[in-house]
Amino acid sequence: MPESTPKTMGQQFGRRSWAEPWKIKMVEPLTVTTREERQKALEEAGYNTFLLKSEYVYIDLLTDSGTSAMSDRQWAGMMLGDEAYAGSRNYYHLESAIQNIYGYKYIVPTHQGRGAEHLISQAVIKKGQVVPGNMYFTTTRLHQELAGGAFQDVIIDEAHDPANLHPFKGNIDLDKVQAIIDKHGAENIAYISVAGTVNMAGGQPVSMANIKALRELCDKHGVKIYLDATRMMENAYFIQEREEGYADKTIAEILKEFCSYTDAAWMSAKKDNLVNIGGWLAVNDWTLFEELRNLVVVYEGLHTYGGLAGRDMEALAIGIEESVSDQHIRSRIGQVLYLGELLKDWGIPIVQPIGGHAIFLDAKAFYPHLKQIEFPAQTLAAELYLDSGIRSMERGIASAGRDPKTGDHYYPKLELTRLTIPRRVYTQAHMDVVAEAVKAVYDARESTRGLKMVYEPKYLRFFQARFERL
Ligand code: F0G
Repeated sequence: MPESTPKTMGQQFGRRSWAEPWKIKMVEPLTVTTREERQKALEEAGYNTFLLKSEYVYIDLLTDSGTSAMSDRQWAGMMLGDEAYAGSRNYYHLESAIQNIYGYKYIVPTHQGRGAEHLISQAVIKKGQVVPGNMYFTTTRLHQELAGGAFQDVIIDEAHDPANLHPFKGNIDLDKVQAIIDKHGAENIAYISVAGTVNMAGGQPVSMANIKALRELCDKHGVKIYLDATRMMENAYFIQEREEGYADKTIAEILKEFCSYTDAAWMSAKKDNLVNIGGWLAVNDWTLFEELRNLVVVYEGLHTYGGLAGRDMEALAIGIEESVSDQHIRSRIGQVLYLGELLKDWGIPIVQPIGGHAIFLDAKAFYPHLKQIEFPAQTLAAELYLDSGIRSMERGIASAGRDPKTGDHYYPKLELTRLTIPRRVYTQAHMDVVAEAVKAVYDARESTRGLKMVYEPKYLRFFQARFERL
């Protein structure tokens, strides 16, 4: 047994354990499969965990997106859906929840995050403009490119090193931003695209000091800052934990202050906001709001529902109120930390510091004998599924896609396999099972062969690509 296991399990003398601030009212049975069944399912899925049928999955850590458990209050809210085409009362509840908690003025609902990304990219990016951002996200960058923009990474260098212990690895490197302004001119920058707890970097946060400094720099040059608020609650927690002056502030206070340094936000409400579907845009500028409100009726739905049912908006409004609770976030991130600490104790290479929504296994360090083009992270996701029916996700060369100009693969420095923890869904015992499965796959690492891609879709290839074993 690793030395710290009793401590993390709360059994050490003198320690008081904490537990989730909820109890379970309804259960969904899980399926356990045999190795033969998993081998067959994996081959049929072309070694891509996105193509597995969920009925063959035991513990599903593919994503934290739309996979959270709603509360009894949210389910009760579903019964209060006002399904009027226009002016649903649930829309006004949603509007006031976002205004109160995030602090922006004008709200446009969308069906999910990429719907919001589509609208804001089309509304503000002019062809040929640069969009600097703190590391790319798959759908975000694609919408920026489809609107004619060119994404440029301005995250600090530490973010590209899985072992670097910088407490705010999501930070923006202001020198990199300045260099882009000097080179292209402020008028050729569409906006700075800032994400809270940067997904592809391992769920790494941005500090308050950093966003404040970015605001000052942008004000000097008249450049806007737009926030991907998808996991901002979790970002606020890391500020509370790690940044001087914030230990006594609530998550709600920290979140609002952070948002106040930005001009607008888009949201995949399927994450932090505790719903199975939904998204939104929130802006402070009336002209931009008018433009977005105009576009939403073309692509999503009327501006008071944006592709959502009234009941979805009600669950979302309640979810926003619940998601800003300090107790909720502490237990949500506490569970991620619990899993990460177990793996760390066993010497398994993971991205550190442990992030907010997931454990990211460092597939390059896991399989040093595989070349990046042999898809180490995809291989690891496949092996983990084979071992135990646990579903994870590749976040490496397959996710990175190709440079639209040259057609070459992007070779990201980070080649990661993500164990993403849904909110309020699994127990500590599930985390133990996951940790032991990763250990088993780690112990068998030397004899593991890589993959080759045999089918590659044009957009966001990782979702539907197919692979074969080398
Ligand atoms: N921004 C971030 C940071 C995301 O993580 C996602 C989705 C989106 C935008 C797009 O939102 O899925 O609602 O359209 N991330 C999911 C994930 C898919 O698994 O990380 P969406």
